[in-house]
Amino acid sequence: MKKFSITIAGGGSTFTPGIILMLLDNLDKFPIHEIKLYDNDPERQATVAGACEILLKEQAPDIRFVETTDPEEAFSNIDFVMAHIREGKYAMREQDEKIPLKYGVVGQETCGPGGIAYGMRSIGGVLELVDYMEKYSPDAWFLNYSNPAAIVAEATRLLRPNSNILNICDMPIGIEELMASSIGLSSRKEMDVKYYGLNHFGWWTDIRDKEGNDLLPQIREHVSKHGYVTVEKSKQHSEASWNSTFAKAKDVQALDPETVPNTYLKYYFYPDYEVAHSNPEFTRANEVMEGREKFVFEECQKIIDNQTSKGTELHIDEHASYIVDLARAIAYNTKERMLLIVENNGAISNFDPTAMVEVPCLVGSQGPEPLVMGEIPRFQKGLMEQQVAVEKLVVEAWVEKSYQKLWQALTLSKIVPSAQVAKDILDELIEANKGYWPELSKEGAGTL
Ligand code: NAD
Ligand code: G6P
Ligand code: MN
Repeated sequence: MKKFSITIAGGGSTFTPGIILMLLDNLDKFPIHEIKLYDNDPERQATVAGACEILLKEQAPDIRFVETTDPEEAFSNIDFVMAHIREGKYAMREQDEKIPLKYGVVGQETCGPGGIAYGMRSIGGVLELVDYMEKYSPDAWFLNYSNPAAIVAEATRLLRPNSNILNICDMPIGIEELMASSIGLSSRKEMDVKYYGLNHFGWWTDIRDKEGNDLLPQIREHVSKHGYVTVEKSKQHSEASWNSTFAKAKDVQALDPETVPNTYLKYYFYPDYEVAHSNPEFTRANEVMEGREKFVFEECQKIIDNQTSKGTELHIDEHASYIVDLARAIAYNTKERMLLIVENNGAISNFDPTAMVEVPCLVGSQGPEPLVMGEIPRFQKGLMEQQVAVEKLVVEAWVEKSYQKLWQALTLSKIVPSAQVAKDILDELIEANKGYWPELSKEGAGTL
């Protein structure tokens, strides 16, 4: 049985130890020859890598382990890149969230002005990784979950159309686990779903058990009363702020009671509520820095100091096993049905064929085959057309270095109330993102 070689790009990510433990837990399904961690911040990566090396020695000493900041070493002789980078790290996420809030606008990692700002930073970083992979391991596959996935996916569609890239998000997976638990199933894998939308912007329209029985009415009823709050807590999204997001899904669902929604739609439907319930001095970035980041780095340091993982509180990121499912689908041609972010190309028949949409796909060794979701209603179509235009304008602005297009993108975002507010936020974001964004020009017609 072939053993696979993997590079985790963004080796210093808070998610790396949980993913390594998950990979170790799945070696029978997905055997591994080598794991390499690659990051452009050697110090941050060193702590995570130091701990991961010990975990591997303890649990699977045959797996080769490499920690590097050298692209050639990182990307040579590999089968998969698992990419989860955060350009500008949490310090810049904090700016993405706090700058819009100063103007009374939602501050969020992937939605509205914050997501646009993050997109302008991420595109270059992700393209660089894709190019390293193509140079040093041209047959490898790039599994991307770096955010903002919608904008990153559009950028790779436009700028690297022939590359082996799969874009995936874990939010539907997390929500499906909560749905399953709300109706007494033990796993989301007992359900087959129909879903359509953009990343962090979609709806489930059909949910069945393996015998074909319709589960949606029960799930709809639960969501209309409790959102996605169930007796079983989400392991992945366990803090109070996530719990209120899951509860708010009740109000989001009220807009179209026939379906059940992605939680992220709350930022578009209830921005006033979100701003009123935000603390402009302490946003989700602060919560994560004081919570997940601190925890992961302290635990990793303890493992290094003790030279053993005995007693560690680091745990398997079990939900992340979707990454193994995806890699296996490519490696073994499993044709597993998974939600991916892919070029529409008719899957939503009354929607832009070039839009990057999130729909179920059968995934095999040739990549994803999107399933047809058919025509979508006017409400969703209108919302999605506006949002996909924002995402495309951001990518065009990045390519053309166009201030004008980025201002248009911010103005078009449903979350932003006016062109003036868009401009005020944009001008402050430009200052904050110096060195991360291309330098924007106010002149010249676009080239796209
Ligand atoms: P993090 O800041 O802890 O880790 C990101 C790492 O990327 C850092 O160590 C940083 O130094 C590194 N990095 C930044 N730019 C780089 C570059 N150009 N080349 C190499 N390394 C680079 O962030 P995190 O909270 O662990 O999240 C990591 C990423 O995963 C984020 O983009 C986050 O939004 C994303 N994420 C996505 C999903 C999803 O559903 N798609 C789920 C979870 C996390
Ligand atoms: C969800 C989303 C991701 C996001 C993650 C972590 O799973 O799908 O795109 O990055 O939440 O968010 P957090 O606020 O905990 O960093
Ligand atoms: Mn996501």
